[in-house]
Amino acid sequence: MKEHDNATQNQEKGLLCSTYSRYPLEIARGRGSKLYDPQGVEYTDLLAGIAVCGLGHCHPEISAVIKEQSDTLVHCSNLFYQRPQLDLAKALTGSCSLDRVFFCNSGAEANEAALKIARRYMQTIRGLKAHEIVSLEGSFHGRTLATLTLTGQDKVKEGYAPLPPGFKTVPFADIEAVEAALGDKTAAVLVEIIQGEGGVRCLPREFLHELQDLCRSRGCLFMVDEVQTGLGRTGKLWAHQHFDLRPDVLTTAKGLANGLPLGAMLVTEEVGQAFGPGSHATTFGGGPLVCAVGTRVLEIIERDGLCRRAAEIGKETQKGLQELKARFPGKIREVRGKGLMQGIELTFPAKGVWQGLLEKGFICNVVQDRILRILPPLIISREEMTDFIDSLEDVLYRQ
Ligand SMILES: Cc1ncc(COP(=O)(O)O)c(C=O)c1O
Repeated sequence: MKEHDNATQNQEKGLLCSTYSRYPLEIARGRGSKLYDPQGVEYTDLLAGIAVCGLGHCHPEISAVIKEQSDTLVHCSNLFYQRPQLDLAKALTGSCSLDRVFFCNSGAEANEAALKIARRYMQTIRGLKAHEIVSLEGSFHGRTLATLTLTGQDKVKEGYAPLPPGFKTVPFADIEAVEAALGDKTAAVLVEIIQGEGGVRCLPREFLHELQDLCRSRGCLFMVDEVQTGLGRTGKLWAHQHFDLRPDVLTTAKGLANGLPLGAMLVTEEVGQAFGPGSHATTFGGGPLVCAVGTRVLEIIERDGLCRRAAEIGKETQKGLQELKARFPGKIREVRGKGLMQGIELTFPAKGVWQGLLEKGFICNVVQDRILRILPPLIISREEMTDFIDSLEDVLYRQ
């Protein structure tokens, strides 16, 4: 890492709300799996905008579709029919067992839509007063008032009381706790198949099936938040497909338009009946530009076999990291994840290791203090992952 000209850093102080702990790095340009600072120093991006740029930065076919669609139609209100939205809805519903789509702009908004449709489905279709949504400790579902209430981490709730009622959080992967939390008032349970911000924690297959069965038998909706795990990240297009689950509701965002803001909530035909004209809406969600990009993203993932690639490179990476763990048993506690969503839990705060990696030109991040998280673009090469593991080894020697 080079000494930086701090002009941008200094100028934004006092200008922006300081909601982010910035990395000591200004990014000027990106290409594939590489990011460059204004001086042209190159970094290997093992974070992909936090699971956003799955196809890498400035993918030429994505740039081309942005150019083409921006010369045709960028925005038109959801009052009108338009082809790009229809094409993406077809591609999304064709990719899983769900039938209908509501488009929005972000993961939090997709989850808001899920919360709203769960309540409305119970109240208008089933004629029940059920409204409560159950989530798991450690989960992350967004920063709107409802989604942060649902999030199973206290730190995001500080200073925002009173929080809206109607949400319950239960211990991670504890089916008895879920069972005890479900009652007449429960509308839905929402889970991440692998908790991302919570520290790359994978829900066990058995728990997921018991949870789905429990939701079915108690008559509440089984909803999956695939905002981080979706679009090939874990080695299947959707993480729930590793376990042959059939959720009633799925939310996605992040990787959907490779960096443009686009989110979606997918529902079964039956649940979809709960939304009619005027029951939910957005100005920007599902605009022609972002939808044209989303459709191309799905085509490229399919055409280039990126799910299989994520599964294979992820497996090799995990093997390499497990070997590292064997060499540093006192420093690495656990390596976990699926595909190109991997967490390396250290026995000590990870900031020094993160910094050492940044100095060697690798961008990753730290979650829950001790966990290094990597979410590289799906186009990352084997060599880049090997270089990362070698660099991590180097950094760990010095810690
Ligand atoms: C699992 C999950 N759900 C929801 C969100 C919120 O998405 P957004 O930041 O696009 O609102 C995130 C963001 O990190 C996430 O990881």
